[in-house]
Amino acid sequence: MLVLGFESSCDETGVALVRVPEQGAPQLLAQALHSQISMHQAYGGVVPELASRDHIRRVLPLTREVLAQADVDLAELDVVAYTQGPGLAGALLVGAGVAVALASALDKPTLGIHHLEGHLLSPFLSADAPEFPFVALLVSGGHTQLMRVTEVGQYEILGETIDDAAGEAFDKSAKLLGLPYPGGPHLSRLAQSGNAAAFDLPRPLLHSGKPDFSFAGLKTAVLTQVKRLGEAPTEQQKADLAAATQEAIVEVLVKKSLLALKLTGLKRLVVAGGVGANSLLREQLNTACAKRGVRVHYPELSLCTDNGAMIAMAAAMRLQRGMAVLQSGPDAGGFEVRPRWPLGSI
Ligand code: KG4
Ligand code: ZN
Repeated sequence: MLVLGFESSCDETGVALVRVPEQGAPQLLAQALHSQISMHQAYGGVVPELASRDHIRRVLPLTREVLAQADVDLAELDVVAYTQGPGLAGALLVGAGVAVALASALDKPTLGIHHLEGHLLSPFLSADAPEFPFVALLVSGGHTQLMRVTEVGQYEILGETIDDAAGEAFDKSAKLLGLPYPGGPHLSRLAQSGNAAAFDLPRPLLHSGKPDFSFAGLKTAVLTQVKRLGEAPTEQQKADLAAATQEAIVEVLVKKSLLALKLTGLKRLVVAGGVGANSLLREQLNTACAKRGVRVHYPELSLCTDNGAMIAMAAAMRLQRGMAVLQSGPDAGGFEVRPRWPLGSI
């Protein structure tokens, strides 16, 4: 079976083609991605209306590119998958609309995928794929959750953030430091030349005894330090504050991941979502988990942030298990996106 997947929930248009064998791991045949980061940078964040319009411009050329790369004809597709939510409503509607239109023209079914399930299953695209069950640390721009993952579709939320997400904490702190959007990677780069010990920042809920998170206070503490540094902080001061911010976020993520592993007794950790690209997080998780005999799996670096491959892969894994709710026939003309959609509910 061949599955085409569309991702358009935020500021990346992703398209990918995955082959689903009767047995064995699904195989990524081709993928194409367009990031809107440079377009939104001038505004310091994602402008939803611009995002939707750009998805419209990009989605068909990217689809042609993917089919050409794999040398596959439209008529050969079996299922068209798309991100159904959560995300920006207008942006989601572009991927959903194109998927449903394409599928109904081809007389093939569609499959709506949960964006976070895509992130969660993205490490299965790596050569060193994890095995179920595992603890998942999902750290993206909009979500920070620890989950017990027993199988595809079986996600028990162990803890989550009560306010800002980890990516949001990176992005908001980076903005306070005058760095471009999205701040995470920029802050992380600046932190390399900084001394984290130069600032004492809070680690909210670190000792709550539960795998939950809170990052709003950290952002306020960074704001206080930025104000204290005055109009013209030196490059070194900015780098020091970046390093201290990164260290605070990473320390909380590592400690809470270890707590979730301890509470579940599981010996496998999967890290997914944009913040999973952070090198300090990877370094510290690797060290802490090696000490405890825990295996850590990450998606490939390029698949940490949003992409079509993870959506096609999640669809493929659902199809292989006979648990895909396919839509076709007269119903396929109508579709619904779910801008707010808790992962625990699927
Ligand atoms: O998963 P993702 O692409 O989008 C959402 O579904 O939200 O994650 C984007 C987030 C942004 O907040 C971005 O700043 C953060 O991931 N990010 C990073 C790094 N690369 C991306 N944060 C810290 N360090 C990085 N290297
Ligand atoms: Zn995402």
